[in-house]
Amino acid sequence: MAYVRTILTDGHPTLRRVAKKVDPAHLRDPLFGQLIDDMFETMYAAPGIGLAAPQIDVPKRLFTVDLQDGDEGHGPFTVVNPKFTLTEGEIEATEGCLSVPGYVGEVTRYERVVVVGLDREGKKIRLEGEGLFARCLQHEIDHLNGVLYVDKVKNLRKAETQAELDAVEEAASLS
Ligand code: NI
Repeated sequence: MAYVRTILTDGHPTLRRVAKKVDPAHLRDPLFGQLIDDMFETMYAAPGIGLAAPQIDVPKRLFTVDLQDGDEGHGPFTVVNPKFTLTEGEIEATEGCLSVPGYVGEVTRYERVVVVGLDREGKKIRLEGEGLFARCLQHEIDHLNGVLYVDKVKNLRKAETQAELDAVEEAASLS
């Protein structure tokens, strides 16, 4: 069974801590498997396309991501101890976050990234991202470093127009 956990909102100290590296030996622990299952359950229920462990009060370096766009290159993935091996270009787009409910704003991010890390079995994975997927990877890795998009945002505002509400509901609800 997987369970929906409570998503912390801005102001909670766990969201501002630098999360700790995961010891790969712990990936074999059934409790860790449960944590990952719960992260997916929580992310899909929200709904969101990414969720970092600190958002459910687990200060460890892992996140889940699934753009749910029918492209298998866009998840579902679990990424443990992620690192960028490439960051390229620059692009601005509207973003939201499950930990800052109801708000949106523009954030400039790398246009393309490559992230390496471990999957839930401890195998190496490498994810290439462009567009929204690249944005999501950067947003989640920021969470692992205690950074929220509101730290980088331009024109933070309550989501009001239909397009903004859609952004909160769907794609831009990065986590
Ligand atoms: Ni977020």
